[in-house]
Amino acid sequence: MPHAKIAPSLLSGDFGKLADECKMLLEFGANYLHMDVMDGHFVPNLTIGAPVISSLRKHIDGYIDCHLMVTHPLQWVDDFGKAGANNFTFHVESEDDPSQVITKIRNNYKNMNVSMAIKPDTPVEKILPYVDQLDMVLVMTVEPGFGGQAFLTSCLSKVAYLRERYPDLDIQVDGGLSMDTIDAAVKAGANVVVAGSAIFKANSLSQMIKALKSRIIQ
Ligand code: DX5
Ligand code: ZN
Repeated sequence: MPHAKIAPSLLSGDFGKLADECKMLLEFGANYLHMDVMDGHFVPNLTIGAPVISSLRKHIDGYIDCHLMVTHPLQWVDDFGKAGANNFTFHVESEDDPSQVITKIRNNYKNMNVSMAIKPDTPVEKILPYVDQLDMVLVMTVEPGFGGQAFLTSCLSKVAYLRERYPDLDIQVDGGLSMDTIDAAVKAGANVVVAGSAIFKANSLSQMIKALKSRIIQ
């Protein structure tokens, strides 16, 4: 089983003080800074793009984990690669050829990992042809688009399926993770946990990060 990582989602933070919040989260023990990129088309919400990652990169040394909920990921590879993103996660449900996205990143951006995400209603089989070429698989545990939604336990069968076949794979879960749901996700085999509202709504962000992280260790 690979290492446990906690990835706070900045979607639940204050974009007006993004760099400060990222620094604080890193000090509190965050492993990844999870940045949700939405194009208003793949999902019914619009957030940030590569210019924000590029600006953030000037102030932040930590691992910037970009989750692209976009219809055409291929067109954004160069922008995110040049912006200094550490990871580029795109959806298997997007309209581009996944192999082209993976190849473009591998050939041109050695410092950027490439990962794929799968929505709740998509069968796990869709992602299997690509798993060997990926740094991480993100199993969505809510419909992508918004923070603060209820965790979908039914998605954990996909986590268990992947963990059984890929013992060393980084498996990320995203959506509805909290102290109430994290144990089930970890038991199924997740080792990278995204949490937005659970962290930002907590009285102590630092304590919540520590508490969540302590539950990921196997
Ligand atoms: C939703 C995003 C998530 C979101 C998670 O589409 O991908 O990263 O911020 O938020 P919570 O943890 O509040 O469900
Ligand atoms: Zn996300």
